[in-house]
Amino acid sequence: MPRGLFVTGTDTGVGKTVVSAALLHRYRHQARLRYWKPVQTGIEEDDDTAAVAALAACAPGEIVREGVRLPRPLSPHAAAALAGVTIETTALLAAAARHADAGLVIEGAGGVLVPLNGTDTMATLMTRLGLPVLVVARSSLGTINHTLLTLDALRARQLAVAGVVMVGARNESNRAAIEHYGGTTVLGELPWLDPLTPAALEVWATSRLDPGGLLGSVWA
Ligand SMILES: Nc1ncnc2c1ncn2[C@@H]1O[C@H](COP(=O)(O)OP(=O)(O)OP(=O)(O)O)[C@@H](O)[C@H]1O
Ligand SMILES: [Mg+2]
Repeated sequence: MPRGLFVTGTDTGVGKTVVSAALLHRYRHQARLRYWKPVQTGIEEDDDTAAVAALAACAPGEIVREGVRLPRPLSPHAAAALAGVTIETTALLAAAARHADAGLVIEGAGGVLVPLNGTDTMATLMTRLGLPVLVVARSSLGTINHTLLTLDALRARQLAVAGVVMVGARNESNRAAIEHYGGTTVLGELPWLDPLTPAALEVWATSRLDPGGLLGSVWA
């Protein structure tokens, strides 16, 4: 079984990649970490692996390059069908097992119920990996519903929720609602960084992400 954290989101484009890079900044001095994007669609425009390598100034050994890489910017099941391939969760699990010497930061594609193939969703992969799940959510209006739905879907599958990270302008009311109704902890509120640089992200991560060190045990 791998160690680490699965990073999901309430939607595509919410900040999973940026938060994954922040996790490397925050914990790489405590544990050997490796980032992995098992399924990347729209690879010509979107390369989250390259983005994390740059945003977290990664050494080559901090990046897992295996996985499914698909050209079309669609849901994985649709992008795979158009490419004439089938995404096999068993093959992805085998790849994860080859990195048992490190704590993995595994970034999903889209959200929890995004389909991978005719039977499996991203939640199937999460369940088979058995890692705690961190939810990345927008801070803005609409996030309470999306975040609570995501937490419900995770718990319905007996997945352990590690917490929530909110991205965007600070919204204390939304944060309080997510913690109260979601029965979880908001581990960080990442503001919009302009410009978004590795140095600015590192400053935020090392001072504001999980200041209580609640995630420290997931890498061990
Ligand atoms: N805190 C931030 N400050 C500045 N830019 C940000 C921030 N968070 C996210 N972004 C930008 O917003 C866009 C979407 O963020 P990101 O790529 O992290 O989302 P995602 O959830 O990983 O998307 P996907 O579902 O495609 O993997 C990117 O261009 C990213 O650089
Ligand atoms: Mg991403």
